[in-house]
Amino acid sequence: MKVLIATIKPFAKVAIEDIKAELDKAGYKMALLEKYTDKTQLLDAVKDADALIIRSDKIDNEVFDAAKNLKIVVRAGAGYDNVDLAAATTHGVCVMNTPGQNSNAVAELVFGLLVYTVRNFYNGKSGTELMGKNLGLLAFGNVGRNVARIAKGFGMNVYAYDAFCPKETIEKAGVIAVKSTEDLFKKCDIVSLHIPATAETKNSINYELVNKMPQNGILLNTARKEVINESELIKLMEDRDDIKYIADIMPDANDTFIKKFPDRYFSTPKKMGAQTAEANINAGVAAAKQIVGFFKDSCEKFRVNK
Ligand code: 3PG
Repeated sequence: MKVLIATIKPFAKVAIEDIKAELDKAGYKMALLEKYTDKTQLLDAVKDADALIIRSDKIDNEVFDAAKNLKIVVRAGAGYDNVDLAAATTHGVCVMNTPGQNSNAVAELVFGLLVYTVRNFYNGKSGTELMGKNLGLLAFGNVGRNVARIAKGFGMNVYAYDAFCPKETIEKAGVIAVKSTEDLFKKCDIVSLHIPATAETKNSINYELVNKMPQNGILLNTARKEVINESELIKLMEDRDDIKYIADIMPDANDTFIKKFPDRYFSTPKKMGAQTAEANINAGVAAAKQIVGFFKDSCEKFRVNK
């Protein structure tokens, strides 16, 4: 059994060692394709792979066509918008994710970015504090819940809206549940996005919504760039010189944001949310275990395609 790890953005070395140990135990062979720069390298490497572990790597119909032995793809992480699920199903390939395994890492980065922002990107000017501010979580999944936990330590008032999570679950976590996305933006000084990129959410963070934020609102995106309507956000930031946009996923219009809003925009050069040794170990080892469980026990827990 050959398991290929194909990651443009590599796991920490220690995570690779732990994944290998897990696969060794099962008697599986591990192959590694890291930092590949061309799709042809991926197409070549998947040819004889029975299983594939990826991160944000794009897995489309062409990859499935090339991977004749492939039975399972595990996205070591939460979002699987990078995998063509319909093509996977057509090719008889099971797709899974590893929910929750990297969520603390993302949540910690939220606060790294927030402190950096409210202290004016450490430019020496007097800033503000997080204590007492209203933080809005758009979606209350694994990342949102971890953000809420840490926010309480900062003394923030935490609000959340999640179309799929019952109000009771949100309130049980000591978070104030609001009725709509609009209410969240109206109420909160900072809105942190934790929604996946789906047909419904793409472009959903638009002029009208962000314009509901109070004075000096901060929009923080550690989710996906596709959920932002970039041209409308740029227009809003032109019309309102108090709004800031902070991203861990570089927008397509990065150059425009930098040029127009040098004091109100920041993006990490590479998505860094899940880039910790712990998150890599958690998600990578979970992926390896799920592959072993799939082959040995036909376990399809965490399957995301039909
Ligand atoms: C996820 O969906 O799990 C996060 O966005 C992390 O993605 P990455 O593995 O590409 O860093």
